[in-house]
Amino acid sequence: GLGVLFSQRLPIPQQLTPMRRGDGVDVYKIPIKAAQHAFLPGKPAPVRSFGGQFVGPTIRAKTGTPVEVTFTNQLDVPSNVHLHGGHNAQADDGHPMDLLDPGQSRTYHYPNRQQGATLWYHDHAHHLEAENVYRGLHGFYILDDEAERGLNLPSGQYDVPIMLRDIQLDANGAMVYPNFPPDRTTILVNGVVNPYFQVAARKYRFRLLNTSNERQFRLTLGGVQMTQIASDGGLLPAPVPRSEILLGSAERVDIVVDFSQVPLGSHLVLKDISGPLLRFDVTRLAVDSSRVPATLRPLPAPGTATVQREITMRFDETNFTGLVNEQVYDPNRVDITVKRGATEIWTVRNTDTVFGAPHSFHLHLEQFRVLDRNGGPPGPDDVGRKDTVFLGPGEWVRVQTTFTDYVGRYVYHCHFLDHSTLGMMAQMEIVP
Ligand code: C2O
Ligand code: CU
Repeated sequence: GLGVLFSQRLPIPQQLTPMRRGDGVDVYKIPIKAAQHAFLPGKPAPVRSFGGQFVGPTIRAKTGTPVEVTFTNQLDVPSNVHLHGGHNAQADDGHPMDLLDPGQSRTYHYPNRQQGATLWYHDHAHHLEAENVYRGLHGFYILDDEAERGLNLPSGQYDVPIMLRDIQLDANGAMVYPNFPPDRTTILVNGVVNPYFQVAARKYRFRLLNTSNERQFRLTLGGVQMTQIASDGGLLPAPVPRSEILLGSAERVDIVVDFSQVPLGSHLVLKDISGPLLRFDVTRLAVDSSRVPATLRPLPAPGTATVQREITMRFDETNFTGLVNEQVYDPNRVDITVKRGATEIWTVRNTDTVFGAPHSFHLHLEQFRVLDRNGGPPGPDDVGRKDTVFLGPGEWVRVQTTFTDYVGRYVYHCHFLDHSTLGMMAQMEIVP
């Protein structure tokens, strides 16, 4: 390895303080700019950043309180910003063709009329998204709501966002991109390699997010229970004990870990099949009045679907393109027209063969529910409100969603950004 196993502390992404306007809007200004970041101790290297930080600053928003963020693109390449999991008007969605050219500023309006959830924001400039996100244009956007606060889950310093992703580093600790064939075997946890995190012997909430272009993580915690409380779109109806979690590109899983279950002074290692990621050191006692209630938040009634669609995703090795329903993304083409208010069931298939690529299906604008997987019940990683779902080669799921209110053009795509950048993306138009 890189000889840095557990030698540096886990960085916690900086939480931004909003400028509060008189009309109750939280206002932020974030430059998109070149910066330096040390992936390895003492080895600063160039990155593209939100606000100068490789893991962008965390925006902490409240359901019902609108947020306005003005992003200024100080890079020499186009960018734009998509709030992943956000329920926003088309003009604020960061559509892949809706670019922020170098020097431009743009204010995105997020009304936050949606329940608490771990969202994230990232670049979505078509053909550049894979590189821009790889180089660092990713950050957390955490939405809190009153009902969730009332549950008394671990909060404050005991509510910790953890971004996992892979990268290829050279001998100087600088990132390598592009890289064919990819050798992104170094894993970053909040932007650094194999950190440690000193914790108290009490419950913590961890918001796990995978921002890798392609990699999925299979997470374990040395046999200690991870209690899943939320997935992409927020709280589950009830906590689910997990011993292993599959986290695909762009997916989120919130877990509670109770470190009072292990002896003071012990170490627990969060591992992936690729190796150890993060070491928790239980170093002190602390009072803990938080709890994980047996009931969290009921899922909304699913509604009756009136439309069925078939969506396929495939990588075309011959032409080196990504295909949705056998077509490369064309921004001038509307692939499907959706009636506002409709409840729909989409069968989403990875039509690559067993030796082919996995994919990860992401729908903008709405959360969906996974009804079934490969004709059987949903898998353990399909629970709750989802906006992204992992599909191994040959796999398929049926998902159901309701297009509630906004009209306009939104994309759906493979969230392996190396694939979407090559065209594995399509567009729906929601009409009144
Ligand atoms: Cu996280 Cu269309 O993206
Ligand atoms: Cu894909």
